[in-house]
Amino acid sequence: MNLILTLTVVASVAQKSLATVPYSNYILAPESRTIYPPRIHQVNGTLTNSKSLIGGPNGTATFNGVSSITFDYTKNIGGVVSVKVGKSSSPDAFVGLTYTESSLWINGQGSDATADAGLDEVIWLPVGEGPGTYTVERKYDRGAFRYLSVVSNSSATIDVQGVSVYYTAAPAQDLRGYSGYFHSNDELLNRVWYAGAYTNQICAIDPKWGNALVHLGTITKDQNISLPETVTWYNNATITEGRSAMTDGAKRDREVWPGDMSVALPSVFVSTNDLESVRNALNSLVSLQNATTGLMPYAGFPFSDLGIVSFTYHLYTLIGISYYHQYSGNVTYLRSHWDNFKRGLAWSLSYIDETGLMNVTSSADWLRVGMGGHNIEANAILYYTINQGLNLASILNDSASVADWAPKADAIKVAANKLLWNPATSLFLDNETTTLSPQDGNAWAVKANLTLSTAQSSAITNALKSRWGTYGAPSPEAGVPLTISPFIGSFELEAHFIGQETQDALDLIRLQWGFMLNDPRMTNSTFMEGYSADGSLHYAPYNNDPRVSHAHGWSTGPTSLMSFYIAGLHLTSSIGRTWKISPALGDLTDVDAGFETPLGKFSSTVSACNGTVKALKFATPKGTKGSVSLPGVKGELIGGTRGVIVKLVNGEVNDLPGGEWRLRCS
Ligand SMILES: *[C@@H]1O[C@H](CO)[C@@H](O)[C@H](O)[C@H]1NC(C)=O
Ligand SMILES: *[C@@H]1O[C@H](CO)[C@@H](O)[C@H](O)[C@H]1NC(C)=O
Ligand SMILES: *[C@@H]1O[C@H](CO)[C@@H](O)[C@H](O)[C@H]1NC(C)=O
Ligand SMILES: *[C@@H]1O[C@H](CO)[C@@H](O)[C@H](O)[C@H]1NC(C)=O
Ligand SMILES: *[C@@H]1O[C@H](CO)[C@@H](O)[C@H](O)[C@H]1NC(C)=O
Ligand SMILES: *[C@@H]1O[C@H](CO)[C@@H](O)[C@H](O)[C@H]1NC(C)=O
Ligand SMILES: *[C@@H]1O[C@H](CO)[C@@H](O)[C@H](O)[C@H]1NC(C)=O
Ligand SMILES: *[C@@H]1O[C@H](CO)[C@@H](O)[C@H](O)[C@H]1NC(C)=O
Ligand SMILES: *[C@@H]1O[C@H](CO)[C@@H](O)[C@H](O)[C@H]1NC(C)=O
Ligand SMILES: *[C@@H]1O[C@H](CO)[C@@H](O)[C@H](O)[C@H]1NC(C)=O
Ligand SMILES: *[C@@H]1O[C@H](CO)[C@@H](O)[C@H](O)[C@H]1NC(C)=O
Ligand SMILES: *[C@@H]1O[C@H](CO)[C@@H](O)[C@H](O)[C@H]1NC(C)=O
Repeated sequence: MNLILTLTVVASVAQKSLATVPYSNYILAPESRTIYPPRIHQVNGTLTNSKSLIGGPNGTATFNGVSSITFDYTKNIGGVVSVKVGKSSSPDAFVGLTYTESSLWINGQGSDATADAGLDEVIWLPVGEGPGTYTVERKYDRGAFRYLSVVSNSSATIDVQGVSVYYTAAPAQDLRGYSGYFHSNDELLNRVWYAGAYTNQICAIDPKWGNALVHLGTITKDQNISLPETVTWYNNATITEGRSAMTDGAKRDREVWPGDMSVALPSVFVSTNDLESVRNALNSLVSLQNATTGLMPYAGFPFSDLGIVSFTYHLYTLIGISYYHQYSGNVTYLRSHWDNFKRGLAWSLSYIDETGLMNVTSSADWLRVGMGGHNIEANAILYYTINQGLNLASILNDSASVADWAPKADAIKVAANKLLWNPATSLFLDNETTTLSPQDGNAWAVKANLTLSTAQSSAITNALKSRWGTYGAPSPEAGVPLTISPFIGSFELEAHFIGQETQDALDLIRLQWGFMLNDPRMTNSTFMEGYSADGSLHYAPYNNDPRVSHAHGWSTGPTSLMSFYIAGLHLTSSIGRTWKISPALGDLTDVDAGFETPLGKFSSTVSACNGTVKALKFATPKGTKGSVSLPGVKGELIGGTRGVIVKLVNGEVNDLPGGEWRLRCS
């Protein structure tokens, strides 16, 4: 009796903690860090009782001679594989493991790729040594795979009882304990939001197991390495301090890349809020800042050893410092990095010439081509970074920096519009010597407010929209064949949201991110690094198609953008001391979303009809204040339990105290 009671209590507590995470059924992160295969994709050769390997550790399968089994985990997972083996007929028996994110690269002789050419080598386990559990060395932690093949390469018979994966991603997280959530009446958008969140989870790694990049510079993209020749790989480089760090991609590179973080970081914030991984990643970049010049590295260690200069990625580290402060509210952190920020910005400003624009003298960027001179993207990012800096300087009362930076920002805006605006196409040119109008610089011009009017911004976003194809929004600056970059696409998406083109933004998410989720060559769970405008999974900067990453944090823009712009939860100062609630639903009828900052919870529950808000409930922390914008809505806001009433004036309310509010339409 007593025992039963205790069990009941335990069970109800466990259920309650689950119930506190809304919509947790959409979360893609596994329930347990030990994962057994859910599904068999394919068996080659003769394998008896293969189905017994599904779902648990006590199977009774037998490999009879040369044969293989490929498991489909139905989503991207990552970690360390163990194979539990019974008896085998030969001391020389081996089983090999091969991994791939995309079904395109299922192969018993190699994994998908991490180097610029060739497939990655098979990892062999000497299972003829006797019954037991054989586990790959930790350096063979495979960061991301949807398909795992277990291969027997000899005539031996081998009894296999179980295949398990220890999931190593997001080591500092309670994997399903999200602090943010998003739900709407559109299931595709819900899946996109959670896939973005999950992509960033699988890209957070234990920093002792980053990619050693041993073939960087030794195997090149022009090489042709074909089977049976394969390439060695191992993930045993310590890339930064701490127990967890954000990287660009789960399989590759497993390094800290500041550009990638500029999209990933806000999406981390609205979902898992794993800022510890963000801070460890940023610290590794700041620690590599050149003490003399102020230059930040292109990427973290070991890639940083190449000493490549990137004008844009340099700025992205400064943006990362600003975003980290915005979401953590950690002023101690800001103060301790303020000198780094100022010296970094001074480096960029020293490249501004007599035109008022920065002259980019190094080609390294997000692997687009033709980055140089008075490049519009780099100058828009500089303009944005200066404005981030002006905001931080005012928080720190650093008036000298404000006086130095503000005129330079103004001059960039004037010069960019004078030298690079092309009224004939309603787009900025890449630089003065070309007719090419890039996606990156134009999306960034709108995001950074480098434009002179909202009319100019919407001319840009309409021109970008007119270039969309069957699979998404193209980046003509990324070379041939025409590329879709979900990284730059995330900035274009934000540009549409900024321009209040909610319907266009929703259409782009459904088109481009919907393709990435639903196409059978993909993982149905994480977003890939880039692909071609014709829908082939070839990313122009690489020759080696199996190398492309299918879990890249830089492709997760929709997650934060849907929380900010659709649910309308905007933080207008760090951690939401001030905020703006301005939901915009496009063709959606219902949205329910929230996230947390150190001040407390922000949430909104909205219904709309044909774009006009019909019902709204929202909550912001006590002690904060903000504004509400509901264009076309007449009515009043009713606050808290005491029923305070505040009338909307032209659909707006300002200086509203934080708390729980609901809309009553009139
Ligand atoms: C697997 O077998 C072991 C040993 O017989 C047993 O302890 C364990 O409970 C079994 N696990 C499952 C999930 O059946
Ligand atoms: C199994 O055979 C199919 C068809 O030949 C092949 O595509 C696949 O790569 C093989 N799987 C493995 C793990 O070798
Ligand atoms: C199977 O692979 C292992 C590891 O590469 C190798 O040592 C062994 O000779 C191979 N067996 C056969 C029969 O090829
Ligand atoms: C690479 O080598 C293989 C085998 O020698 C050959 O079939 C293939 O055409 C080559 N590919 C390229 C791109 O050179
Ligand atoms: C990483 O593994 C490689 C290959 O086994 C080894 O040569 C290297 O010493 C290891 N590096 C570290 C830092 O452990
Ligand atoms: C810092 O930059 C200076 C000037 O470019 C260069 O000579 C020096 O080697 C750099 N320092 C480091 C540690 O890379
Ligand atoms: C704030 O930043 C400081 C300096 O980087 C760090 O030591 C501290 O742990 C941070 N605080 C929190 C709550 O993260
Ligand atoms: C100007 O832009 C074009 C198109 O991207 C590019 O080909 C060219 O190299 C750029 N100029 C410089 C100086 O980088
Ligand atoms: C940028 O600087 C380089 C190197 O000093 C110079 O060759 C180039 O002409 C400059 N470009 C522009 C557009 O001024
Ligand atoms: C954008 O810049 C214009 C001036 O060009 C300014 O009036 C407007 O307030 C700015 N918008 C924002 C959101 O800062
Ligand atoms: C993709 O994943 C979703 C859950 O996120 C699932 O409902 C759907 O069936 C999966 N699609 C396929 C084709 O497996
Ligand atoms: C929906 O809104 C659009 C644009 O505001 C308008 O043209 C259309 O008539 C509206 N449809 C309905 C059913 O109200």
